[in-house]
Formats: sequence, C-alpha cells, structure tokens
Amino acid sequence: MTLQLRVYVPEHPLIKHWLGIARDASTPPVLFKSAMTELGRWLTYEACRNWLPTEETTVETPLAACPATLVNPEVPMAIVPILRAGLALLDGAQTLLPLASIYHLGLVRDEETLEANCYLNKLPSKFDPETRVMILDPMLATGGSIMRTMDEVTTRGANPGLMRIVAVVAAPQALQQLSQNYPSLNVYTAIIDEGLNNRGYIVPGLGDAGDRAFGT
Ligand code: PRP
Ligand code: URA
Repeated sequence: MTLQLRVYVPEHPLIKHWLGIARDASTPPVLFKSAMTELGRWLTYEACRNWLPTEETTVETPLAACPATLVNPEVPMAIVPILRAGLALLDGAQTLLPLASIYHLGLVRDEETLEANCYLNKLPSKFDPETRVMILDPMLATGGSIMRTMDEVTTRGANPGLMRIVAVVAAPQALQQLSQNYPSLNVYTAIIDEGLNNRGYIVPGLGDAGDRAFGT
C-alpha cells in the first residue's frame, strides 16, 4: 500500500469564523489569542477522529447495564507546542486532551536565512512508539520549523503514522516537504493558502502569529 500525506481542511463554520477573525489585521492581540484558542479547540476536535484511542466497556446507568466506549487512559498521549505561536493553540487542545503530556519545543526562524533554530527542547529522550503525538504550530510556511520538529520527534521514536499536526494556515511549500518525507502523517489545518512572499511570510496568511498572539 502506498502511503500519502493526508491534509484535512474541516468544513466547519466555527473554524471559518475564527480564521476570519485571526486573519483580520485590525483584530487586537487579546481577540487574536481567543481566535487561536478556539481554532486549537475545534481543529483538535477534528483531529481526534480515528486517532484518540478508546476502549469498549460496560457501565451501569441508574436503570441497567449498557455498553460504553471510553477514552483509553493507558495509551500515552503527547502534545508538542512549537513556541511561541504554538502556545496560542495549546489551551484549546489541552481542554480536549487533559491527560496528554506537554513537551515544549522552542524554535525561531532566522529572518535572513529562514532556518529554524532551536532554543528550548523539552522533548523526552525517548517516546513509547505507541504514543499519540499532536504537534501544534499555527503557521506552516517554508516548512523549516515543522521539518525540524518532525526530525526531533521521530529521532526520539515517535511514529509519524500515529501523529497529528494541527496548524491554522499551511503553505504548499511546507506540505510538499512533509509529503515527501513523512507520507503516513495527517495534517489538520483551517486553510491552505496560495504561497509565500519573498520574506517567507504566508500570503494572504495572518502575519506574524507569535507577535500577534503575544502583543510584541
Ligand atoms: C513562526 C511560526 C512557525 C514558523 C513557520 O514562528 O510559528 O513556527 O514561523 O515558518 P517556517 O515554516 O518558514 O519555518 P517564528 O519563527 O516566527 O517564531 P515565534 O512563533 O516565536 O514568533
Ligand atoms: N511565521 C509566521 O508567523 N507567519 C508567516 O506567515 C510565516 C511564518
């Protein structure tokens, strides 16, 4: 079976609404952060389909025994937010995945070379290969940051087929690199934009997500 990167752009009015608010240059930082939280929540909700491990059991209602499907707490879950902008998606994601461990990864693009440099790495030395890893980064632009992240996470034993990337705006350049290198991966994004400008910013995009989320 030939694997192919799957990119989901959920058709959901709340995702469209909060994307529109986040894109609007007149949106102030406090509302931009709320938009990111909501996008983190709804995109995580979509990404949980066919991913969140469940187990079949029986519960007693006040009236009778009945079958139930519950989240399996034994399977390790991890969220990797890419600092800074990925932090803006974390509140929404964590609400839905309260048992997940949070492993922060700090990356910043060199604005000259566009290379992603790592300044903080709180990943575990080894992932259990069964771990469901969700990566949060609102912007997939040149792909440098997400490729560096995938390298750091997979060299520690995480299985790309069990991973989900939650983004907000994705550029074809980043998706192409992911597709070539990690064909078993699943990406959830609010939109795929046209491309990049000559400074590596997504067009139309939403500007600098980290600066807008944190008012810098
Ligand atoms: C932004 C964004 C991504 C990266 C995407 O982070 O949050 O991580 O750029 O660009 P790329 O695909 O070209 O690598 P940035 O480096 O601006 O840091 P910040 O989140 O701290 O603002
Ligand atoms: N990082 C951002 O925050 N925005 C872009 O458009 C590209 C990279």
